[in-house]
Amino acid sequence: MSSKSNEVMSDKFGYSEDEHFATKAIHEGQDPAQWTHRAVVPPICAASTFQQFSPAKHAGFEYGRSGNPTRNCLEKCLAALEDGKYALSFASGLAATLSITHLLSSGDHVICFDDVYGGTNRYFRTCANKMGVEISFVDARDPVNVKDAFRNNTKMVWMETPTNPTMKLVDIRAVSEVVKKHSGAFMVVDNTFMSSYFQRPLSLGADIVMHSLTKYMNGHSDVLMGAIMTNRTDIWEKLAYLQNSLGSIPSPFDCFLVNRGLKTLHVRMEKHMENGLAVARFLESHPLVDKVLHPGLPSHPQHELAVRQCTGFSGMVSFYIKGGLQQAEEFIKNLKLFTLAESLGCIESLVEIPSLMTHASLPKEHREKLEISDNLIRLSVGLESTKDLLQDINQALNKAGEIGKQ
Ligand SMILES: Cc1ncc(COP(=O)(O)O)c(C=O)c1O
Repeated sequence: MSSKSNEVMSDKFGYSEDEHFATKAIHEGQDPAQWTHRAVVPPICAASTFQQFSPAKHAGFEYGRSGNPTRNCLEKCLAALEDGKYALSFASGLAATLSITHLLSSGDHVICFDDVYGGTNRYFRTCANKMGVEISFVDARDPVNVKDAFRNNTKMVWMETPTNPTMKLVDIRAVSEVVKKHSGAFMVVDNTFMSSYFQRPLSLGADIVMHSLTKYMNGHSDVLMGAIMTNRTDIWEKLAYLQNSLGSIPSPFDCFLVNRGLKTLHVRMEKHMENGLAVARFLESHPLVDKVLHPGLPSHPQHELAVRQCTGFSGMVSFYIKGGLQQAEEFIKNLKLFTLAESLGCIESLVEIPSLMTHASLPKEHREKLEISDNLIRLSVGLESTKDLLQDINQALNKAGEIGKQ
């Protein structure tokens, strides 16, 4: 299995299945003819309101919350990259999640993967629950668990793959087949970890793709934003209404930045994948490492699904360091190129301890069940020189290994 998987990976991985991806990222929604001065890149239109020719007769924009030219360009590009008909952007990833959840009514039931991003879990457990929406968390690695969790009132199935931080995978097509058997239910996939470049949930049967654009899609640690993409006109109409009614919109300046970030997404993702795999393989060979979690490694229990479902991997790598919190903290203290910070998917390498940081809001028993222990370290491998990253990790691991020896 391992040599076969490696062969498959070297043939197929590191490219989008969409051979026009780079062209779309650079040109879709960007036509200079739409701007008075034919600016080659979409300008920032800061206006909060737009002159009307006569009451209710205008040139396509009336008020900045309901529509903005800079935001429009970005949304056209986002839709094209996900192979969707429609895209809408929001003030953050969680604002997109909140808006999608507003498609539900009190008394509706949601099935959610039990290993989603900590903030998504917290939102469903606390805020959405208060709205009268019932939530079941299931281990969706097995689609049968999703099937068994369905009730008469189930409306939404929320998946994230790979998961954050334990890199579990969901078979999107298999779960979508389950969802399709229940009329009125829809499926959402959080595609943040893979970006539109390496995974296309809409083509695998999802109804909505959700992104924290804060991560790979923008990629430069300077914007918080979220998005949804869909092919369903009914869903898009409702969400466009909610985007305006809830008012959780991004600023034109942030739209400008994400639009710019998208133009290099394909180049960044290929290097993230190269560096992420190099780090994962190095960690797997190091004596101070207990276990590495990366779907591109043949040792990952769902590696075959990864090969089937994705066209590459991001720079996300998690691993269990031998020992406990003391070793984890010593490793992090000695790193020189990885910054200790939450977030991920950006050009600079980041490191964190999920149990104390991104996933601290999860109840302790839930964290234990998911194996998010204090010796689990999550790396977001950036675009620095591969050799420098490996050297940095090596020296920091060796220092952490000195603990208890003196
Ligand atoms: C997988 C995933 N989904 C959603 C979010 C929420 O996005 P935001 O921080 O942009 O609100 C995050 C944030 O870390 C995330 O990692």
